[in-house]
Amino acid sequence: MGRRRIAYWVYFLTVIFLGGWVLSLAFPPKVHYPWPEIVGAIILTLVTEASPVAFPRGGGSLSVGFAVIFASIIHFGTGPGSLVAALGTIRPREFRLKVPWEFVLFNRAQLVLSASAAGWVFTSLGGVPGNVKVFQVLPALLLSGLAYFVVNFLAVGTGLTLAQRIPFRTIWTANLKFVAPQYVAITPLGILLGVMYKDVGPSGVLLFFIPLMAARYSFQRYFEIRQIYLSTIEAMVRSIEARDPYTSGHSAVVRDYAVAVAKQMKLAESDIEKLEYVALLHDVGKLAVPDAVLLKKSKLSPEEYGLIKQHPVVGASIVGEVALLGDAVAAVRHHHEWFDGQGYPDGLSGDQIPLTARILGVCDAFDAMTSERPYKRAYTFQEGVEELRRCAGSQFDPAVVNEFLEVVKEVSPRRAEASKRVQESRLVAGDALAAIRQAAAATAAAAATTTAASAATPASSAATPASSAVTPPAATSAVVTPPTATTPLPSGRPAKTS
Ligand SMILES: [Fe+2]
Repeated sequence: MGRRRIAYWVYFLTVIFLGGWVLSLAFPPKVHYPWPEIVGAIILTLVTEASPVAFPRGGGSLSVGFAVIFASIIHFGTGPGSLVAALGTIRPREFRLKVPWEFVLFNRAQLVLSASAAGWVFTSLGGVPGNVKVFQVLPALLLSGLAYFVVNFLAVGTGLTLAQRIPFRTIWTANLKFVAPQYVAITPLGILLGVMYKDVGPSGVLLFFIPLMAARYSFQRYFEIRQIYLSTIEAMVRSIEARDPYTSGHSAVVRDYAVAVAKQMKLAESDIEKLEYVALLHDVGKLAVPDAVLLKKSKLSPEEYGLIKQHPVVGASIVGEVALLGDAVAAVRHHHEWFDGQGYPDGLSGDQIPLTARILGVCDAFDAMTSERPYKRAYTFQEGVEELRRCAGSQFDPAVVNEFLEVVKEVSPRRAEASKRVQESRLVAGDALAAIRQAAAATAAAAATTTAASAATPASSAATPASSAVTPPAATSAVVTPPTATTPLPSGRPAKTS
C-alpha cells in the first residue's frame, strides 16, 4: 500500500472515528429531546437535499437543506443539529449503496463535526439553543454559520484531495465561488427558520418552508431558461454554418478553445459565460455575405474581400440586440483586429482591442488553420502552433498565445474528434448524393430506352440494364449540408459539500 493510500485511509478513518465520538458525547443523559420534531427536521432536510438545483457551470448544486440544519442547531442544540446534518443529507445514491462505504460514513462524520463546530461557536458566544434572540446574539449566529462552512469545506476538500488526487488549491479555487455564496445566502434563512420554530412551532416552519421551496423552483426555472437560451443560440449557429460545410462545427470549437483560455486567464465567471455566447456567434455577420462570395473556392477580388471584412460589423450589430450580452458584443466586432493594428474593421492595436476579442482572434485563427478548406490543406497541430508563435506580436497578443498554448493540448483532441464527425457526415452526405444521382440517371436511362424501344423494337430491349447508364459516385466533397459537429464543454466537478 503506497503512502498516499495510507494517508487516505488514515484520514477517512480518523474523521469517521472523530465524528462518531463527538456524536456519542452530544446527547447528555437525562436531557429531554423533542424527538418527533427532530425526526421531522431530518425528513425536511432529506426532502430538500434530495432535489438540489444543479448549477449551469462547474457541476455544483444548490440546496436549501443547510437552512433546516442550521435552524436545528440553534433551536434543538448541537447534538440534534448534528444528527439532522448527518442523517438529513443522505442522498438517494447513498441509500442505494452506490457510494463507497467510507465516503458515506465520512460524509456523515464530517457533517457531525461541522454542525458541532457551529453549535460550539454559537453557545460559546452566548447563544442559547431554543431561545434565540437574534439581535443580541447576531455575531454568534453569523460566526456559527461560518464555522460550519469552514469545517465542512476543509474536511471535504482534504478528502477529495486524497481520494481523487486533485490539488487542494484547485478544489479551493473551483468551488469557493459556488459554495461560499450559498452559505452567505442560506445562513439568514436558517436563522429565520430557527426563530419561526421558537415563536410559532412546527406549523410555522411548514408555512416558511413553502416559500423556500418556491425559491428553489425559481432557481430551477432560471437555470432551465438559461439552457433553452443557449440551445437556441446553438441552433441558430448551426443553421448559419449549414451554408458552408467546411466551417461546420467551427463556432463550437472556437467556443471550447475560448472558454478554456478564459479559465486559464482567470477571467470572471460572468465574463466567461458571455464569451461562451459571443464565441458561438462571432461569425454571425457572415449571414450578410452572399453565397457566391462566401463559398467561392478561388481567390477573392478586392471588392469580394471587402464584403467579407464587413462581417464583424454586421455581426456586432446583430448580437448587439441581445441585451444580456452587454459589452461582450465588442468581441464580435473586433475579433479580426491585429495586435499591431493591421486588422479590421477599426484598425485597433494592443490593449485597445478588448481582451475577449484577442482571445477569440487566436482561437478562431488556430481552428481555421488546422481545418481543411476547399482552397487549402489543413495545417498539422504542430504547424498551427508554430504559426501562432510566428505571428505572436503582429497578428496575435503574445500573452494570449502563451495561455492558448497551455490549454490547447487538452482541448485539441476534442477538436480532432469533431473534425472526424464532420468528415464522416460529409461522407454520408456524399454517399446519399451519389445514390440520388445514380437513381436519377437510372430513371433517365430507363426512360430513354423505353422511348426508343416503343418507337422501333420489341419490348424485351427495354430490359437494358440501368447500370450501363449509371453516373459514377459523386465525390465526397460535394457541397451537401452535413449535420454540425459539436464538442462538449470542458467541465470540472467541484467538491460536493453538504
Ligand atoms: Fe470572423
